[in-house]
Amino acid sequence: MKNADFLTGITTSGTPHLGNYVGAIRPAVETSKKQDIMSYYFLADYHSLIKSNDPRLRKQSTLEIAAAWIAMGLDYENCVFYRQSDIPEIPELTWILTCLAAKGLMNRAHAYKAVVAQNEEERQKDPDNGINMGLFSYPILMAADILMFNARKVPVGKDQVQHLEMTRDIAGRFNHVYKKLFILPEVVVDENCAVLSGLDGRKMSKSYNNFIPLFDTPKRLRKLIMKIKTNSLGPEEPKDPETCTLFSIYKAFATDVQTKKIENRYRQGIAWGTMKQELFEYINEILKDPREKYNELMKNPGDIEEILEKGALKAREFSVPFLEKIRRTIGITPLNI
Ligand code: TRP
Repeated sequence: MKNADFLTGITTSGTPHLGNYVGAIRPAVETSKKQDIMSYYFLADYHSLIKSNDPRLRKQSTLEIAAAWIAMGLDYENCVFYRQSDIPEIPELTWILTCLAAKGLMNRAHAYKAVVAQNEEERQKDPDNGINMGLFSYPILMAADILMFNARKVPVGKDQVQHLEMTRDIAGRFNHVYKKLFILPEVVVDENCAVLSGLDGRKMSKSYNNFIPLFDTPKRLRKLIMKIKTNSLGPEEPKDPETCTLFSIYKAFATDVQTKKIENRYRQGIAWGTMKQELFEYINEILKDPREKYNELMKNPGDIEEILEKGALKAREFSVPFLEKIRRTIGITPLNI
């Protein structure tokens, strides 16, 4: 098995929504089909331990996210699609890297600093209140995910850029202290990649609870679209597409020609009710077949399990010998060789 040209992970802590689709799933599905690129995609279930202690939710989310990727057409035969916790080499590498990562580096991590700042704002006695070591050293687990497969490129959202810098830092340190085993991975932030707005106009996100699930029933999908916030312009008044949540979602799904057409109708004046109905119909048409596939998969979790287990076997063709090499390099070896 070859190392990863592209690698990315998705934390299993929620229900896949339209924003996840256009931001992460769709580009990954496209890359997964390319014959000359080796891509690795995984479900980061160990990362989900940091924020949630709910076993049922974690399992359900793992199932839903895996089913969503497959239903949307991920070419899991051509790429390597697996679950983080099926690769025991990752936590082992995490410890090795933990002993190379500077604590000061982790002190600077945004995710950790944000919670400290919030504690200070709330005048908590302990600035580390409620922070577990998982959250603090989260970037090291992420570095292990990436370095375990010597990934060259890592497509992520902007909020993850700092974690990639830390990964490079830790990899560089290993290469310097022991031996040059790791490629320094490059971050890929797709600026063109759509960031969807949610029901309230802010970025669609699980944490704002303003998301539209990818695979709700058509009835619920329509209901949620009808709830999207608009302004009070009357039905015939011209409207500005650029500042409109409905338009931004439409654009993320539609072809350029289709987008232009709707843009013109905004300028001429389109009633919000009409636009919402059209948006619903457009998205629903795209999601119709994948939704059926998704529902089928959700009824047969054994099929998903089998796909993930096969994926783990493929991934471990790389990680087992590579970890062996890492262990030898750091002097953890059988004593007689
Ligand atoms: N931390 C990433 C996120 O929250 C998920 C993730 C875990 C990841 N391990 C990774 C992404 C490795 C890229 C590479 O979005």
